[in-house]
Amino acid sequence: MKRPEQPIGIFDSGVGGLTVAQAIAEALPNERLVYFGDTVHMPYGEKSPEHIRAYCEQIVEFLLSKHVKLIVIACNTASAIAASYLRSKYWQLVEIIGVIRPVIQQIIQDQISSVGILGTHATIGSGIYPQLIQEYGSTLDAFQLATPLLAPMIEEGLMDTEVSKAVLHQYLSHPGFTECEALLLACTHYPLLRQEISDFFSGTKRIYDNAAPLANTVKKYLSENNLLAESRQGGNTFFVSEQTAHFEKTARLFYGTQITIQKIDLPS
Ligand code: DGL
Repeated sequence: MKRPEQPIGIFDSGVGGLTVAQAIAEALPNERLVYFGDTVHMPYGEKSPEHIRAYCEQIVEFLLSKHVKLIVIACNTASAIAASYLRSKYWQLVEIIGVIRPVIQQIIQDQISSVGILGTHATIGSGIYPQLIQEYGSTLDAFQLATPLLAPMIEEGLMDTEVSKAVLHQYLSHPGFTECEALLLACTHYPLLRQEISDFFSGTKRIYDNAAPLANTVKKYLSENNLLAESRQGGNTFFVSEQTAHFEKTARLFYGTQITIQKIDLPS
């Protein structure tokens, strides 16, 4: 039986999930978060489904040991590849919410006609976004492109540099994006490049990411299940599988200087 005062577990391969954690913290300021960034295995987007599932399983076990009331997969790659598997294994123990459905529902609800989707090799290769568009019976036209250099570049802190400009130019010049009304940043790392991506298209494209729609879904779930925390019971905690200078820098950017980040070794 879950209780409102328990924390929410949230994970990604690295800093990307912090964009989602921040949206949850804004929407639900009373909630405590336990964040895990699997920096030692980043980038997930280049790993096999078997490896991604195995990493995620270890993280879920770890978060359960922290007595979380809900687990948020703050990663498109892990949501695409491992969410069904994790739910089938842990459904009796914890609810697991992924980032993919909430954002695609939002885009369809906004009656966008065409969307350009950027994501990792694993996410784009899984075909999950076009599959859901079809499943929802939408006429939304989607163009997809794998942009595998972006997440490692962000994890290295190379935003707003000559490197990011060159890499974005290479990807975003693809003619498939020209006619799209909107873009979907289908990797939770990419909002850290939002301004640069928007500038590339001179601000003409509406840009979606997973964070806000996911935060709404989390709020709805907690509210419907009487699990909303009534008051703040302590700070957020951050764990990584490898300490990296950039993870600390980005986490402090989001959460201030007070946070501590602990490295832990999960069984491999
Ligand atoms: N942030 C992750 C995502 O949303 C993945 C980045 C990676 O590890 O490849 O897909």
